[in-house]
Amino acid sequence: MGYHDLRFDQGEGLQRAGMERKVLDGEVYVFRQALQAFDLYDMWHQATIRGITAAAGKEAAERAERDGFHRIHEWVSPTEIPAVTDAVYAEIEPLTHDFLDRFMKGTFPDVETFFYERAPNVRFHIPYDIAQGHKKEFNKFAKEYGQGKIAAHGPHRDSWLDCPSNGMNLWFAMGRIRPGNGLTVYPDDYVGEYKFESSGNISDGEKLHKALTFDLHPGDVVIFHTDHVHGSELNRTDETRFAISCRLSVDRPVFPQLHHHNYVYSGWSGSTALRPLAEWPAKLQPSYVTSLALRARNKLIPSMAPGDPDPNPAEMIGTRTERGFEVALADVPPGTVRGVSPAICVAHLSEGNVVALTRRCPHSGGDLANGWVDGETVVCPWHNLPFDAKTGKSACKTLPKLRRVACEIDGDKIVIDPKSEINTSEDNEVEQFTEAAASS
Ligand code: FES
Ligand SMILES: [Fe+2]
Repeated sequence: MGYHDLRFDQGEGLQRAGMERKVLDGEVYVFRQALQAFDLYDMWHQATIRGITAAAGKEAAERAERDGFHRIHEWVSPTEIPAVTDAVYAEIEPLTHDFLDRFMKGTFPDVETFFYERAPNVRFHIPYDIAQGHKKEFNKFAKEYGQGKIAAHGPHRDSWLDCPSNGMNLWFAMGRIRPGNGLTVYPDDYVGEYKFESSGNISDGEKLHKALTFDLHPGDVVIFHTDHVHGSELNRTDETRFAISCRLSVDRPVFPQLHHHNYVYSGWSGSTALRPLAEWPAKLQPSYVTSLALRARNKLIPSMAPGDPDPNPAEMIGTRTERGFEVALADVPPGTVRGVSPAICVAHLSEGNVVALTRRCPHSGGDLANGWVDGETVVCPWHNLPFDAKTGKSACKTLPKLRRVACEIDGDKIVIDPKSEINTSEDNEVEQFTEAAASS
């Protein structure tokens, strides 16, 4: 499995014939300026401008066009973002066949027909610190449309969300997207069994490896197998990320969970006569019928709906002693973070440089012990948010900082004193370490 970052017209060494199979084998591709290469950027750009005009007015649309979509939150209020997203959906969806037909023919020369999810996903993520004040509207929208459309999406495989396991994700940057507000793909977790919840997110207690993030310009595309673990970053920047993504499969889509998403057969959707039938080639398979029956049963008898699996037990490598907790130094090699107790994790930043911090992420409870160390930061694995290990702060100013407790190396042990807090407490909102949690 590899990662290829190429300008579309400079794909030296890239054999595009059969590339779709490589995507399904886990290769991740970034094609720079792909939409411009096929004269497709304007199609979606203009549709977006029409959507913004309809939902937020002409002036907002003109400003967005002038300054770039990454500044849209300056001209469109957060409360208007759900309506703008709706309006852009309405403009984009009718273009899907023409858009994908042209893109696929240009990118995958061997693929003649394919099955695509009826509506692309329109995703405006405004900066987290701005969105924070509008949780109610955003949660309502996310409930209706699914996660990830308007706020950060936890690590998942698309098949956990009832999407095909043999699909590919085409993730198009429509505005500038930087590390800090974009997509995450976890290539080292491509292979592996993970528990996941009915929400479609990975279960608590699953350890993840460092995520790939992307620095994209308008028109760039990231292409990856739908069964890669992927998600989004909590937007810690001061820019909005605007992306539109499409899912499709080259062969008939395979639904390992429920089959209720509508996949359109491209061989028919371009024809006026066959268009009304174009969803049936994907539907005419046992998974569709089974899924209808299961959904009806789960609705009628909710107790029969599958529940969430028990999460893996949280890692706790600390031994309670009169000094606090002790951990073998050898169990926390440089560059790693481990769980000490339910409330505390310990990170070995660089040789001999250890810190002990609050374990649960103040955003939505991600377990930092299942994350990783990156330089002087400890990164939350759920939405790729780095916390400065020395100050406990992240770039999201509205989030409380992590607390830091005393921690030192003593011979072959790391000794952590959960009662001795290092940071001065300016953050009452941070959940207190309770005696009970610290001593458990
Ligand atoms: S960044 Fe979202 S849970 Fe940590
Ligand atoms: Fe996804």
